Formats: sequence, C-alpha cells, structure tokens
Amino acid sequence: MRAFLTTCDKINAMNKSLNIVILAAGKGTRMHSNKPKVLHEIGGKTILGHVIACAKALNPQKIIVVIGFGGEIVREAFAQENIIWVNQVEQKGTGHAVQQAVPYLDDNANTLILLGDVPLVDVEACKKLIDQATSKLAILSFNKSDPTGYGRIVRGGLGNVIAIVEHKDANETQRNIIEVNTGIMAMPNVYLTKWLSRLSNNNAQSEYYLTDIVAFAVQDKIDVVAEITNDEYSVTGINSKTDLAQIERMHQTRVADKLLLQGVTLRDAARLDVRGNLTCGRDVEIDVNCVFEGDVTLDDFVKIAANCVIKNAHIKNSAQILSFTHIDNAQIGENSRIGPYARIRPGTTLAAETHVGNFVELKNAQVDTGSKINHLSYVGDATIGKNVNIGAGVITCNYDGANKFRTNIEDDVFVGSDTQLIAPVTIGKNATIAAGSTITKDAPADSLTFCRAKDQKSIANWKRPVKNKK
Ligand code: UD1
Ligand code: MG
Repeated sequence: MRAFLTTCDKINAMNKSLNIVILAAGKGTRMHSNKPKVLHEIGGKTILGHVIACAKALNPQKIIVVIGFGGEIVREAFAQENIIWVNQVEQKGTGHAVQQAVPYLDDNANTLILLGDVPLVDVEACKKLIDQATSKLAILSFNKSDPTGYGRIVRGGLGNVIAIVEHKDANETQRNIIEVNTGIMAMPNVYLTKWLSRLSNNNAQSEYYLTDIVAFAVQDKIDVVAEITNDEYSVTGINSKTDLAQIERMHQTRVADKLLLQGVTLRDAARLDVRGNLTCGRDVEIDVNCVFEGDVTLDDFVKIAANCVIKNAHIKNSAQILSFTHIDNAQIGENSRIGPYARIRPGTTLAAETHVGNFVELKNAQVDTGSKINHLSYVGDATIGKNVNIGAGVITCNYDGANKFRTNIEDDVFVGSDTQLIAPVTIGKNATIAAGSTITKDAPADSLTFCRAKDQKSIANWKRPVKNKK
C-alpha cells in the first residue's frame, strides 16, 4: 500500500506542474466549409482529436481548449473528454485567445500552448519544450524553404532568439529568414500571465499576437530557447482543403511505412488508407486500394485482395478476403474465404473455414464452422450451424414490414437454390430443402422438404413472341 501511494504521489506531482492550452477558436475561412475547421478529419480522426490525444499523452493537470466559431458543435464532439472549454467570442488573435484561458491557469504550473489546427504534433517534441519551461520560454521552430505566412524567428548576434515577427509585419531582411515559428511553445505561468497583460494590437493585422511575448521575455532577461524540429509533417497547420489532403497523404504514408517495417506486405504503399487503427499479425498481405476504418485486426497470414473496405472487424488467421468485399462490425473466422463482392454487415460472426461468395449479404448472422453461402444470397438475423450449404439465391425473409424475425438452420443442412425462408423458421439438423421452395413452417431434421407449384406443364412447339415490324 505504501509503495502504491508513493507512485501515485509522484505521478500527481508531475501532472500538477503542467497546463495545456489548445487554441481552436479560428473560423477556418479558407476551408470553405460550414463545419468548424478542427472537426475535419485526418486518418479518420478529427484534427482537434489528434491534438487532444497528444495533450493527454503528456499527462497534464488541465487541458483548456479555446473555442469560438462553431464552439458548441466542437464541445459536443468531445463531450466524453475531461476538458475545460473557454469561449473566445471575438477572435482577436492568438494572444487574445490565450488571455481567455488565464483564469484557469494554475499559479505554480507551466503551460504548453498547442494549436488546434496542427494535428500531427509530436509528443516527444512537446516533452522537450516542457522540460525547459520550468524557467524559460521554449518555442518549437522549423526551417521552411518557403516561409511565406509564418512568423519568423529573429536571432541576435550570438544566435539567441530575440523576437518573432509575423510575416505581415516583417521587413525584407526578416522575410528572408527561413526559421519559422510553429506556434507551439511552453513557459512558466507566472511569466505568461504577466506577458499576456502587456500585449497590444498595434501591428499589421490589429491582432493581439501571442508571439510578442518573445520580445517581452528578452526585455525581462528570461532565456528564450528555440528547439528546431526537422519533422515538418508534425508541425504543419491545416488552413485549406489542400493542406488537409496533403497532411492526410503524409499521415497515410507514415502509417504504411510503419506497417511495412513490421513486415506487412503492401502491394503499393501509396494505395492504402487507414482511417483508425489497423493491427496486423505476421505475414499479412494487403493489395491495392483497401480502406480500413475504426479498429481492424488482421491476424497472421490474412490476405486482403484489392478494393476492400473493412471497418471495425477482426479477421482471424489465414482468412482470405477477396476483391470488392465490404466488412462492417463483424468477425471472420480462421481459414475463411470471403468475396469477391461480398457484404458482411454488423453483428455477423463467421466461424472457421466458412465460405461466403459473390453478391452475398450477411447481416447479424452467426455462421458456424465449415458452412458455405457462395452465391447471390441475403442471410439476415440468422443462426447457421456447422457444414451447412446455402444454395444460390437463397433469401431469409426476416422482416414483415414492422418486425424482424430469426431463421435457425441447424448443422449439415442443404438449402437448395432460390429458396425463401420466411422467418421465424427452423430447419432441423441434416434436412434438405428442395430448390425453389418457399418455406413458411419449420422443416424436420433428416428429411427432404419442398414447397413448389405442384404441376410442371409443357406446351409443345412453343413460339416465342417476335418484334412488331414498323
Ligand atoms: C500563427 C503564429 C505564427 C506561426 C503560425 C504557425 C501568431 C500571431 N502567429 O500564425 O507565428 O508561424 O501560427 O502556423 O501567433 N486562434 C484562436 N483565436 C484567435 C486567432 C487564432 O483561437 O483569435 C487559433 C486558430 O484557431 C488556430 C491557431 O490559433 O488554431 C493559429 O491561428 P492562425 O490564425 O492560424 O495563426 P497564423 O496566422 O497561422
Ligand atoms: Mg495558421
């Protein structure tokens, strides 16, 4: 018990020293969208969701998010998170945004400022800033070959940082500086609150610039350090749909690189989209143009052919998913073969060695080992036993227009082609259903059941209709 308390005390002590402020009030005019900018997605997760994930990984005492445009929608999107939301009614600049958070800052803590539109911010780079923020102003900078639009890091004769000058306020010499401000910085709260109270909007954009605090630090003889990152990807902000598309690609390239490093075979690393978390075992192969959404696990030796969309699914050892298959909230058993052109919908569980073929739709179906549904079928709200063969065109009629009912098919059943099973209905073990039957009552085990038009007639020398001459 004593040891446990000690560990907790240590963690709490560490947490208490850090506040994180995320600036997310901007309108995002250049996105040309009704949706707040920070709710657009990278890799299936909102831009702000990425920033909040980074903040949480740093284990702060508080996360304060400054919102403005579309603030209510943003709050709702993160209703589950433990966040202090601060409203910036009018967006008067980044300094003004941080001023709104001042009432929530802890006196003896340090603050890390993150931008809500820089989604892929790197946890390790933030840690470096936080380590220095106990007594200094630490900023994250990078060298950008085209620095247009960014605040420039101005260094003095000894290489020390003396100011950040915004692009619109910079003179010709300053515009030639390629070291730019990422907007991410950390400092002790005692200094931050003092410097924020000194900001003015006497500049080219009539805004309260957060970046002016650098010059105040220099005046107050507080050290300013700029950590230069080489990882442009982690500090690029999103202002337009072009930026969104570029960051998405960069993100996908990194996801693909990680998978390749782990030993996953990607037929073309540039034609893979992971919009969530993809976990792969050994010797997994993924062909081109596949999209993985939510949480997807591919166990050892799984093969995914081209053009599949797989969402929240577990595909077990050695299963093969053939082209153009859609899987959504389902489990696929070992050595199964699904597709091409199969649609596996929510609630479906396939046991080992199952086969599902082209133009088959399964919904909330539990299919046991070795069963086959190979052609043109709809099987919904059904329990299917072991070694069942469902013929081409079989439909479980599970819906009467108001309610849904289940179909139970026991082990070793053979259902002939073009059969309709009107649920609720049970087909007993080892039963055979003749092709073309409409089954409305339970079918007994070990029997042949059929239900078709009684008489088969033939009309000799039948002439088919011919087209009328014009
Ligand atoms: C800012 C920096 C610039 C840096 C660049 C990096 C300032 C003055 N400039 O410029 O040095 O190179 O980021 O991308 O800080 N925001 C608010 N309220 C406001 C204004 C902005 O919450 O009143 C938020 C925005 O939603 C955004 C972030 O602050 O998430 C940055 O604002 P933005 O207007 O994009 O600043 P930049 O002009 O890009
Ligand atoms: Mg910006």
